[in-house]
Amino acid sequence: MQFQWYPGHMAKAKKSMQEDIKLIDVIIELVDSRIPYSSKNPDIDTLANGKARILVMNKCDLADSVITDKWIKHYEEKGYFTVCVDSKNNKGMKAVNSVIQKACSKKIERDRRRGILNRPVRAMIVGIPNVGKSTFINSFTGKSCTKTGNKPGVTKGKQWIRLNKNVELLDTPGILWPKFEDQKAGLNLAFTGAIKDELYNIYELSMLLIKFLSENYSDIVESFYQIENKTLSEAEILERIAVRRKCIKNGAKPDLDKAGRYLIDDFRAGRLGRITLEKPDVLLIGENKNV
Ligand code: G4P
Repeated sequence: MQFQWYPGHMAKAKKSMQEDIKLIDVIIELVDSRIPYSSKNPDIDTLANGKARILVMNKCDLADSVITDKWIKHYEEKGYFTVCVDSKNNKGMKAVNSVIQKACSKKIERDRRRGILNRPVRAMIVGIPNVGKSTFINSFTGKSCTKTGNKPGVTKGKQWIRLNKNVELLDTPGILWPKFEDQKAGLNLAFTGAIKDELYNIYELSMLLIKFLSENYSDIVESFYQIENKTLSEAEILERIAVRRKCIKNGAKPDLDKAGRYLIDDFRAGRLGRITLEKPDVLLIGENKNV
């Protein structure tokens, strides 16, 4: 599902998030492993209000694992607990359980000192649209979960999913707004399909993707489309892709929009291989951002 955010929507989402955060022990924020900075909500740090934080690097099956490791190190140094998952193929879910226990160890110890034993920790999943929240919840909860229903005074109107004796999950994910101000982040969100395609011109988007791939993964274009791309311009590469993919318009001209659409779809589906669009060191050096 794709969203248009307006100031009113954001204020409402923020308010509901603030209410939900009061009820939980740990916030589980999902990011897309291909764009761990661009897919991270800019305001969650303020909203989190001192709660334990887990960053789930979702879609790690599509990302470059060497760069994923760098992001993990980067975010762990910032105080997050992290875990990599491929929700679509149910991979990494066991590790999520143990990272929740680790992230909540202080609370569990506090409870123990007060004589409260085995009280489940309460978690909430948050993330921008399309990052994979529903897929993750389905994969993580599996079939064994049960709804615990409302508990008066504590969880008014909220439904909790009892995952096991240690964890309860708020059953509706918090949908967060993406970074709007940052043009580079907007572009990365467009590449991965997290924001509406209509907001971008597909030809320009595909040219920018070719530029990125030529600079960072030049072998991929060459081997996937069987094009000798070292000396070609972006426009020429797209033309060759059009010919390879038989995207031809009337008059036997290459249909560049159609070829661009193929390229973007091949990237999004992971057919080009495992590709990450941003690195923590480059972001830090290049643009002096708080990533
Ligand atoms: P949301 O609730 O956060 O909005 O996201 P949702 O779960 O609907 O997932 C958005 C898309 O991302 C879905 O693809 C879903 O299959 C895909 N996805 C989620 N997690 C992963 C993952 O770990 N790896 C990969 N490769 N894909 C993932 P879709 O094209 O919209 O739907 P479909 O083709 O799966 O039917």
